[in-house]
Amino acid sequence: MNKKKKLRVLSGIQPSGSLHLGNYFGMMSRMIDHQENNELFCFIADYHALTSTPKADVLSSNIFNAACDFLALGLDHEKTNFWIQSDVPAVTELAWILASQTNIGLMERSTSYKDKLSKGIKPNMGLYSYPILMAADILLFNTELVPVGKDQKQHLEITRDIANRFNHTFGKTFTIPTPDIRSETQLIPGIDGQKMSKSYKNTIPIFGSEKIIRKKIMSIITDNASVDLPKNKNSTLFELYCLFLNLEEKENLINRYDGRGLRYGDIKIELFDRVMDYFSPYRQKREQFFSRPDDVFDILSLGAKKVNIIALETIEKVRLVTGLSHTI
Ligand code: TRP
Repeated sequence: MNKKKKLRVLSGIQPSGSLHLGNYFGMMSRMIDHQENNELFCFIADYHALTSTPKADVLSSNIFNAACDFLALGLDHEKTNFWIQSDVPAVTELAWILASQTNIGLMERSTSYKDKLSKGIKPNMGLYSYPILMAADILLFNTELVPVGKDQKQHLEITRDIANRFNHTFGKTFTIPTPDIRSETQLIPGIDGQKMSKSYKNTIPIFGSEKIIRKKIMSIITDNASVDLPKNKNSTLFELYCLFLNLEEKENLINRYDGRGLRYGDIKIELFDRVMDYFSPYRQKREQFFSRPDDVFDILSLGAKKVNIIALETIEKVRLVTGLSHTI
């Protein structure tokens, strides 16, 4: 039998504080799964985080923490390419070139941008051009597949638009990437029922202390249906618990929800135990990485070195087709 062709899979994560279950199930765990059979490109999107983190010590500590999280959770730097976005500065050059081919209308339709405006965030140009930099991240490496959460769907559509337009204008240069969005982890709800997100302060951190994780899980909102009634499965607590269950366990939970006598408080305690058990093997690994920042940064700069070669090849091609290469 023919071996399946390896796909080039790329995704990035914003280092925006303690990474949480939404990050883990939306992107991190899927990237880690892909490393077995595909060619993986994974980076820490610090240029993107700079649009909303104007404090040097906070940003650099977030970058380091995100790297420790990923490595502890099983990203294998020998099998994959793992780097910090700003160690590959060609991405900003590509972003500028793409920006000159991108209609303003396309940016103004960005829902995540509009969302930020509506929350009263004063927009800067970086935030406005965020999708163009993201397109550059993806197109720089001829990416085929991009595992992301559902919230990034429109950004991927924008990337495809930009790439198609560029190819149309200058001749086929970029691979058109496909988003990889899973239905079972489309949107991970936070403890208040909205999408789990740092900016909504509703997250359950992967590596938070036992105390914090317990507190967060115990405050997941539920309805107040009485104990002897069947319970609502279309709910945050149910959805979060299911992320940790296999099919059989899930069926069992469904039966308990449909039956009588279920107490939300008991389910919360079970979920807390699950979360702690699930991540406990990684906690120790994380401490090891955390205590060796030099090793972590060595891994990341080696990653940058590898991908810079590919990035420069793409940039040269782009310079040539756009007329920036000074050859006549
Ligand atoms: N915008 C993404 C997020 O917030 C992070 C990101 C930056 C990204 N560049 C990317 C994801 C390129 C996929 C591909 O989750």
